[in-house]
Amino acid sequence: MRRIGLTQFLIEQQRAGHVSADLRLLIEVVARAVKAISVAVGKGALSGVLGESGGENVQGEAQKKLDVIANEILLEANEWGGHLAAMASEEMDDPHVIPTGYPKGGYLLLFDPLDGSSNIDVNISVGTIFSVLRCPEGIENPTAEDFLQAGTKQLAAGYSVYGPSTSLILTVGDGVHGFTLDREMGSFVLTESNMRIPADTKEYSINSSNRRYWEAPVKRYIEEVEAGKNGPLGKDYNMRWVGSMVADVHRILTRGGIFMYPKDTKDASKPGKLRLMYEANPMAMIVEQAGGAATTGADRILDLTPEKLHQRVPVILGSKNEVDRVTGYHKA
Ligand code: AHG
Ligand code: MN
Ligand code: MN
Repeated sequence: MRRIGLTQFLIEQQRAGHVSADLRLLIEVVARAVKAISVAVGKGALSGVLGESGGENVQGEAQKKLDVIANEILLEANEWGGHLAAMASEEMDDPHVIPTGYPKGGYLLLFDPLDGSSNIDVNISVGTIFSVLRCPEGIENPTAEDFLQAGTKQLAAGYSVYGPSTSLILTVGDGVHGFTLDREMGSFVLTESNMRIPADTKEYSINSSNRRYWEAPVKRYIEEVEAGKNGPLGKDYNMRWVGSMVADVHRILTRGGIFMYPKDTKDASKPGKLRLMYEANPMAMIVEQAGGAATTGADRILDLTPEKLHQRVPVILGSKNEVDRVTGYHKA
């Protein structure tokens, strides 16, 4: 069968009016950075990239060497192409404005350079998450404020998984498409068009060690799920928690499921663990584009008005009927 590479796919998306030439270039450059990160991650202990960097990010989390390396790779790859006005990252306090000397473009790029960092040193899948917004008109040097746009404004979103194979999942608002890295050729090949999340599922994903901090609706749902066939939901469920959102979401995109990092009372300053701008929003766009749903329990994630660049939100996403059920319990 004839193979469709990422470049051909994007050119066809451009012809169909789904992406501009600049957005196409931007996505190609992100994909190139993803390949470089995949190589760095893949070397593991051979190249001394495992372990702590010694630094902390703005959120007080210890940075791993690969968090810093992946961030650098994305910055360097995207600085000079002329398609971006600025970039924001989990690993940087403030946005990175395109240095003088390079032309500026009309887009803003946000990323979680390496998601699932606690899994790096134990050889479990990690990934990169990204989101693209338009830079507001007339803004030369974007600040954090210019990034604070609702998830519905995203022009593109995607993630990669560095697992047994490297996958790149992408949406530009016209469904969700999956690519696999052909390592010998160094190119991404379209391997799944129009990925759809089944509306029903028997698989759930939550870190139950936080159970005592959950709110009543989530406690209720998990109790019902655990009750299985004889409980109110009338079926047995299975549980999976990788600890890398990219891997958990990828499983859900592939075969359905519900993923929850709900609001908890563990730390009053953190109403959830995951970050809105570069984790929850891009994943919510992908999940909705694949027919699933994504809420905080109270609200649709994509409708939230961001308040801060590094804001955290509760996340409940995946198979639509299951997410609707948990969201319904929050309203009951
Ligand atoms: P990051 O490595 O970018 O900080 O994100 C980690 C996130 C997410 O990938 C995962 O779902 C969650 O943290 C795991 O949290 P727990 O360690 O609390 O299970
Ligand atoms: Mn993350
Ligand atoms: Mn990260």
